[in-house]
Amino acid sequence: MTAKKHVAKSGKQQNRSARSQMVHGQPITAAWNFSRHLIPPITSNTTYRLDSLDRGARGFMQFGSDESKNKEQILIYDRLDEPNTLLLEEQLSLLEGSEAAVTFGSGMGAISATLLSVLKSGQKIVAHRNLYGCTYSLLTDWLPRFGIESNFVDVTCKEHRQLLNDKTVRVLYFECVSNPSLDLADLPAIMKDVRQINKGRSESDRIIVIVDNTFATPWALRPLEWGIDIVVHSLTKNIGGFGVEMGGAAMCAKKFERSLKLARKDFGAILNPKSAWHVTVHGIPTLAVRFERQQRNAMAVARFLEKHPKVERVLYPGLKSHPQYALARKMLRTPEGEFAPGTMISFVLKGDMGRCRKFVDHVAKNSYSITLAVSLGLTKTLIEVPGYMTHSAIPKDKLAGSGIDPRMIRLSLGIEDERDLIADLDAAFRSL
Ligand SMILES: Cc1ncc(COP(=O)(O)O)c(C=O)c1O
Repeated sequence: MTAKKHVAKSGKQQNRSARSQMVHGQPITAAWNFSRHLIPPITSNTTYRLDSLDRGARGFMQFGSDESKNKEQILIYDRLDEPNTLLLEEQLSLLEGSEAAVTFGSGMGAISATLLSVLKSGQKIVAHRNLYGCTYSLLTDWLPRFGIESNFVDVTCKEHRQLLNDKTVRVLYFECVSNPSLDLADLPAIMKDVRQINKGRSESDRIIVIVDNTFATPWALRPLEWGIDIVVHSLTKNIGGFGVEMGGAAMCAKKFERSLKLARKDFGAILNPKSAWHVTVHGIPTLAVRFERQQRNAMAVARFLEKHPKVERVLYPGLKSHPQYALARKMLRTPEGEFAPGTMISFVLKGDMGRCRKFVDHVAKNSYSITLAVSLGLTKTLIEVPGYMTHSAIPKDKLAGSGIDPRMIRLSLGIEDERDLIADLDAAFRSL
């Protein structure tokens, strides 16, 4: 299957490139009148003046429903809809090529509300074994309390196929580029399997494929083009880009929008308008230039690590040695068609955990351009050890089964000069 080109364009931005759309968004929007402002103002307000009971009632009726299409937007209360988040949602839809986007207060807010909006007690999730640590604990610690169980498989080895035949499986969940092992999910092959199984199922029990596209970002991969149902993101990472605001989003077809908005309304994980403003005004317009620079650094650092005699293994989809290099070249493409292997590297040093600790501590204490910190996708380069930090929710005896070497070191590349990054790493190697 080839990827379906998306982006329903209308009005002034017709035939504009994705790069320009990220800077300008929708020039005319129901969410804000741009005839005076170049940059939309930050809104700071929780409730809205309603000039009649009828208008209030209509607002509630229209909320999240198809009813609101082509009608005047009636704002009621910020937990329902809000101008800055509506603007961001329009921009995210353009970016990901989706009919709808719903924002949340964090990536985990988006993931939990999305799963709860499509699942009910007695249904199951089949998930890739390598997942962000808090997603793993959501699936293993929390959802079982509501009667939703998860089975972990290796989707890169097609282990999901057998399990999907179980009628109680409602969701297939994975990260397109997994955290931290950088496994790539073969979206066209997986969707072929799912379509085959869904042929025999009714709409209410068909398998819904939900993917986390945080590592790739929509600049490198647009999963909806391959037929994925719902894409979730942590906006805290590359899309926000500067490490100053938290946020999350789900992008999908219109038919999922209402339940996502209702889940957001009732679970309450709304995005702060100031955070929405930051992502709209600073994050998305600079995503392409930041990503390109970070990726250039990632390529240079990955090549340096690959040649280093003290390194056992480097995982980076831009290296020919990556086990899924051919798949990476097929799927990880910018809207302009360039290969986009991304901004993240994982690697393992030769030797035991003691050596890993010594290396990372040396970086933490001595590096100028690399900081020991969680999170990723920022302008500053960050280093961490997933097995002991971001993925510590995974019990130590289950790490190997999740595809994580406890000694694995994860690097999120920033926009610094690559020579400074390599000098800092080199100094840490020489300390061993
Ligand atoms: C792949 C991935 N998804 C989701 C999240 C959660 O995002 P947030 O921290 O914004 O809740 C993270 C956080 O690191 C992540 O790495």
